[in-house]
Amino acid sequence: MKTKIQTIFHNQFHKAPEKTYFSPGRVNIIGEHTDYNGGLVMPFCLDQGVYASVSSRTDGIFNVYSENFADKGIITFDIDHLDKDPMRDYANYISGMVLEFKPMIGSKPSGFDLAIISDLPVGGGLSSSAAVLVLIAKILCDQHALNLSRIDLAILSKKVENQYIGVNCGIMDQFIIANGKPDSAIYLDSASLAYEYVPCLLNGYTFLLVNSNVTRKLTESKYNVRQKESLELLHILQKHVSIDHVCELTPEDYHKYETYVSQNDLKKRFKHLVDENHRVKLARQMLISNDFKTLGMLLNEAHASVRDLYEVSSEVLDQLVEMALVSGSLGSRMIGGGFGGSTLNV
Ligand code: GLA
Repeated sequence: MKTKIQTIFHNQFHKAPEKTYFSPGRVNIIGEHTDYNGGLVMPFCLDQGVYASVSSRTDGIFNVYSENFADKGIITFDIDHLDKDPMRDYANYISGMVLEFKPMIGSKPSGFDLAIISDLPVGGGLSSSAAVLVLIAKILCDQHALNLSRIDLAILSKKVENQYIGVNCGIMDQFIIANGKPDSAIYLDSASLAYEYVPCLLNGYTFLLVNSNVTRKLTESKYNVRQKESLELLHILQKHVSIDHVCELTPEDYHKYETYVSQNDLKKRFKHLVDENHRVKLARQMLISNDFKTLGMLLNEAHASVRDLYEVSSEVLDQLVEMALVSGSLGSRMIGGGFGGSTLNV
């Protein structure tokens, strides 16, 4: 893929690239929809992802070519016209990041020629958009010799997704993509950003991803609706308990406070969030002790919870999970935002 993107760059821009980058896709083992509720997640990086070859320019022009959207040709924008533009299509992820960096770049020369290619299935729920954002953040950081940490790059990427693209996602995807290491998952507290690498050696077990081939765009799905419901739930709970995030509460707390939540849907969201957060803690222990049988059970519980309580699964995803279990999988669940994408199977 690395040579391929360098050749593609050469074909498009008739010169050799200065640098080539890789940004991985991600899989979340467990902890779904907890990251915008101050909770825990445990994702890892894939060895599939987005590759980019790039050369700097000094005239403020950004030329972008994606082999995955070859029919769109080279998309061009400049440093003075960075507002989101539907005509720019996928390249809005790139202009959005350039806009974010603009104050840091100042009046210094800027611009680049960029070719990208991804071997992640688009809409497969493996975070190709977060991979692109983190990649562009890293390129701009290097080009302008800025002193930004990997966590800063993740925070900036989340900001662009939230404020420019318009998806109110949490930080899980950007964080793991910027900080992932081989053979490790990250156990991340999304409220404090405290994190720990958890060895993910599998020892004879396999994590198998199954793509439903049902693509969903987070902006078009009910993702933002769930985010709003979570806020509503938080405001109700804050009248009775001093918390900043729903995931500060435990499964025991649920029984104490559920009576204050009169709407049935919000009650279900509440139960999912506290139980799911608790499952992440247990899953971390299971991964460390190599207990994939119990880990599988936790995955099954997690799927039932996103299906029945958080209601972000779909018929196809539920069928894939059932088929996996009938075929002998130790555990299976949909991953990511839901309504499409992939399942993770032990
Ligand atoms: C998407 C979002 C993440 C997270 C998951 C659900 O992947 O980008 O921030 O909320 O959905 O866990």
